[in-house]
Amino acid sequence: MMDDSRSPNVQPSVDTCGCAGGPRRTCDVCRTSQHVFMAYSFRCLRRHQIEAHGDTVPAATAARVRDFQRRMNRHPSRTWDLYAGHRQNLMALVPRISGRGDVCVLGAGSCSDIDVEQLSRTFHQIHLVDLDGEAIEHARDKLPTGLRARVVLHGDVDLSGFLDRLDDWGDTFPSDAELGPLAVAAAHGIVARLGRTFDVTVSSCVLSQLPQPFQSSWVMSQAAWSSLDAAITGVHLTTLAGSTRAGGSGFVAFDVLSSDQAPALIGLKDRGADELEAFVAHMAEEGEGSSMMQPDPRILLSQLQSPGLGSLFASPRLTHPWLWDIGADVQLVYGLVFQRG
Ligand SMILES: C[S@@+](CC[C@H](N)C(=O)[O-])C[C@H]1O[C@@H](n2cnc3c(N)ncnc32)[C@H](O)[C@@H]1O
Ligand SMILES: [Zn+2]
Ligand SMILES: [Zn+2]
Repeated sequence: MMDDSRSPNVQPSVDTCGCAGGPRRTCDVCRTSQHVFMAYSFRCLRRHQIEAHGDTVPAATAARVRDFQRRMNRHPSRTWDLYAGHRQNLMALVPRISGRGDVCVLGAGSCSDIDVEQLSRTFHQIHLVDLDGEAIEHARDKLPTGLRARVVLHGDVDLSGFLDRLDDWGDTFPSDAELGPLAVAAAHGIVARLGRTFDVTVSSCVLSQLPQPFQSSWVMSQAAWSSLDAAITGVHLTTLAGSTRAGGSGFVAFDVLSSDQAPALIGLKDRGADELEAFVAHMAEEGEGSSMMQPDPRILLSQLQSPGLGSLFASPRLTHPWLWDIGADVQLVYGLVFQRG
């Protein structure tokens, strides 16, 4: 699964399976910024993959997504040193509680943007959740021996809730009326997998990752993408609500814009928070209401205050933004803190 398909200003050449209907799938195995193979259905896609890439390519798209994520988490740019500034920003915003409760980190991966040793001074157990079970295992194995017993792993947990639907929904995407209850059921399934609630939950820059496998695999209308984005965000917020104990608190760190889309972010790397806030305010004025940020922090905040979720989240608020230098580009990151109502 290649990942440069969203480079700006590049029109890729297109090959198709030749069927008359409009394409619904793209081949994630050979997709690049220069070329894309489009297929009418899962069957057409599979035929192409066997012919072009051989029958060792896993048939289920979800299996390829898991492989891809494992490779990404082994990427040499994911280093502890590179993430230091981002990690400090993130760790400073993790809610502190009195006593020694347990914390759960969603999207913990290689634990480069969270400091487990620092968490261990405030919390008793540290639960790490990720799709990539190997990444969190390696992260735990690097910790001092005495601390490892307090780290509990939850590998192979799909926080989008829908990865295993990639192939059937690629052919027939559910209506909005169907999607809402499916999102609630998916979130309940994730919470049941975790098996308990936590005093503090932290979501560490996983939200932007959740729709990506679908974007690399499907061709859909803008309206359907909006429905999917809303459903996946709903799954994540409901998961956070369901896994935080009543009276507990949570923190969501989420990246909203990359320097690929807004090159000015690179020049702001060594500037203070005020200049970054001014840049974001200016961008909002230029955009005349339509934000380049995805998700728009204010919209995410309003979702936590909406009639559906509002009763679960007390006093949610946005934090200041900060920049995360990930080597290949720079990401603008916001935080959202909440109490579990
Ligand atoms: C950008 S990384 C966040 C950085 C990570 N906290 C770290 O320090 O390495 C996103 C993490 O989300 C995980 N992820 C991506 N899609 C996921 C999904 N559907 N469910 C659970 N985790 C997912 C990846 O495996 C990766 O570890
Ligand atoms: Zn076809
Ligand atoms: Zn292909």
